[in-house]
Amino acid sequence: MDKPIVVSGIRPTGYLHLGNYFGAVRNFIRMQDDFTCNFFIADIHSLTTHPTPENLQSGVKQVLAEYLACGIDPEKSTIYIQSDMPEVTELYTFLNMNAYLGELERTTSFKDKARQQPENVNAGLLTYPVLMAADIIIHKANFVPVGKDQEQNLEMARKFAKRFNRMYKSDVFPIPRPFTFDGADMIKIPGLDGSGKMGKSEGNAINLYEDPKSIRKKVMRAVTDAGPTEPNSQKPEAVENLFTLLKIVSTPDTVAHFDEQYNNCSIRYGDLKKQLAEDIINYTEPIRVRIDDILKDDKYLAKVAREGAEKARESAVKTLNEVKKVIGFNSLF
Ligand code: TRP
Repeated sequence: MDKPIVVSGIRPTGYLHLGNYFGAVRNFIRMQDDFTCNFFIADIHSLTTHPTPENLQSGVKQVLAEYLACGIDPEKSTIYIQSDMPEVTELYTFLNMNAYLGELERTTSFKDKARQQPENVNAGLLTYPVLMAADIIIHKANFVPVGKDQEQNLEMARKFAKRFNRMYKSDVFPIPRPFTFDGADMIKIPGLDGSGKMGKSEGNAINLYEDPKSIRKKVMRAVTDAGPTEPNSQKPEAVENLFTLLKIVSTPDTVAHFDEQYNNCSIRYGDLKKQLAEDIINYTEPIRVRIDDILKDDKYLAKVAREGAEKARESAVKTLNEVKKVIGFNSLF
């Protein structure tokens, strides 16, 4: 039996942070043996927010090195850069003809972005979910491992795939489904600012590629409160968040130790933060060192990107030929 096909991508708009790692990349790595995996860097999607060419270039290189340093293995998975596979923009064009203004305007991420960058509400922003659908269905993906924030975009991809199949009375596209590992893996990684999740643009993130000094500084500044006044009281969100991070990077003994201190009101947040910072550093340091090594090796990065693009295009061209045939593009020569 063929393995199910997986596609997922990350926009190269900044360093990967702990939220990306525990929410997505760690799952990518676990999937490599049991699925046919395609992991790409969504650099065309980045243009919807108009980065400078310098930012785009360095961002793509950084994320590629980070993917590899985390353990995405080019021998097992197809790793490529979106713009190296032009077939995807061709499929995007076709899909755009069956994507409607109303449904695109109603997408939450479009509305959010339009609010965030009112001076740059470009058509690419509007059709972001169409390009994302093309990313996914061009490889006939069965599963897409993404976080909760991408649920609606994935729902749109399912809709566009179904619509295409119906329109052309074909079954070119399998209908992609979200993929999550059960239970514990769906942990939402909180930020350090007291509420909400860790995010690139929220300014509350710890990056994988962050030096120890800066990790210590960020953790020591994390929001807490005045401390518990009654034994066994419920933790406020900001404190709960620190414990969530602790559970991810520290030993169960350490977590139990601070839990006990919290419950008998003897906790000193400074101690907890020091421990948390050291444990985050222990976790990320080997990855940071690998990122550094890989970033120095331009030849290796180029080889991975070239071979990844070749593999990815093979699969994309096949799908695109089927698509063109059912649409009725018959070359006359
Ligand atoms: N929209 C995704 C994000 O912001 C990135 C992305 C683009 C993606 N194309 C994709 C994710 C295809 C999964 C599959 O995180």
